[in-house]
Amino acid sequence: MSLTTGMEILSAARAGGYGVGAFNTSNLEITQAIVRAAEATRSPVLIALSEGGLEYGGKPLVDLVLGMARDATVPICLHLDHGSSFERCLQAIRLGFTSVMIDKSHADEATNVIETKRVVDAAHAAGVSVEAEIGRLGGVEEHVVVAEEDAILTKPDEAERFMEATGADYLAVAIGTSHGANKGVGRPFIDHARIEAIAARVSKPLVMHGASGVPSALVERLNAAGGSLAGASGIHEDDVRRAVSRGIAKINTDTDLRLAFATVVRETLARGPGGFDPRKILGPARDEMQAVVEERMRVFGCAGKA
Ligand code: G3H
Ligand code: 13P
Ligand code: ZN
Repeated sequence: MSLTTGMEILSAARAGGYGVGAFNTSNLEITQAIVRAAEATRSPVLIALSEGGLEYGGKPLVDLVLGMARDATVPICLHLDHGSSFERCLQAIRLGFTSVMIDKSHADEATNVIETKRVVDAAHAAGVSVEAEIGRLGGVEEHVVVAEEDAILTKPDEAERFMEATGADYLAVAIGTSHGANKGVGRPFIDHARIEAIAARVSKPLVMHGASGVPSALVERLNAAGGSLAGASGIHEDDVRRAVSRGIAKINTDTDLRLAFATVVRETLARGPGGFDPRKILGPARDEMQAVVEERMRVFGCAGKA
């Protein structure tokens, strides 16, 4: 029985100075890859469903993750990623999630506080942990100008005020990363001084979204197998390690798993055009995703912590 709340996993991570991965899933194979990697490396882990993932897989997917988490020998949390409303968070809590994110980072600060506090009250009454966000992560365009556009990066004093007002358990911060496979030209800029300043005022775990490494070897393989991903770039693992040493405890990764999945499915189909057994197409993709997750767990420092 190893279904665990997010706060149990992440408070230990922040106190211990290591990071824990939150990996997005939307099917059986991705979930198996994450759980197998966690077991193989003895890592705690958060398995995340976005609202899109929840719509795609529905209750059967939720029950699958919950079942695997309960059977696991390492701590596993089921987390709602980027919940957009109180109602969505409540739906997740009723389905058995042990952590929800309420993301009102696009609203003004007052609205963000009110909506986050509402979710915190309901979630805590059910024993569920809450992630909130202040500041705003960009896509590639926003990311490129992020150093100049200070307004979208999380301000340390706002972060402190926000956490005190809401009682949220962990905080997603905008520090230069962005979602997706294009995180800016060259090595993306990560504001490490800002992480340190926020961590000095917020003792709760901090969360880094948009943390995928987007390994060039995978991108090259994807493109060689018929993909067409141009200008891809991710977060260097040294930046992730540095961020963890300054207070980041939860690190979100989705893109790297999507890349591994799409690459291997393309390669497998190209190698054996006559094959049509789903297990022979998806099995190798699952193994590649597991290798990606294991490597991330070693970089985050959570391997061996379960
Ligand atoms: O942060 C976003 C995640 O990568 C989930 O993406 O909404 O396409 O499932 P999605
Ligand atoms: P990536 O797109 O970098 O994998 O980030 C995923 C994420 O932040 C999910 O919330
Ligand atoms: Zn995110």
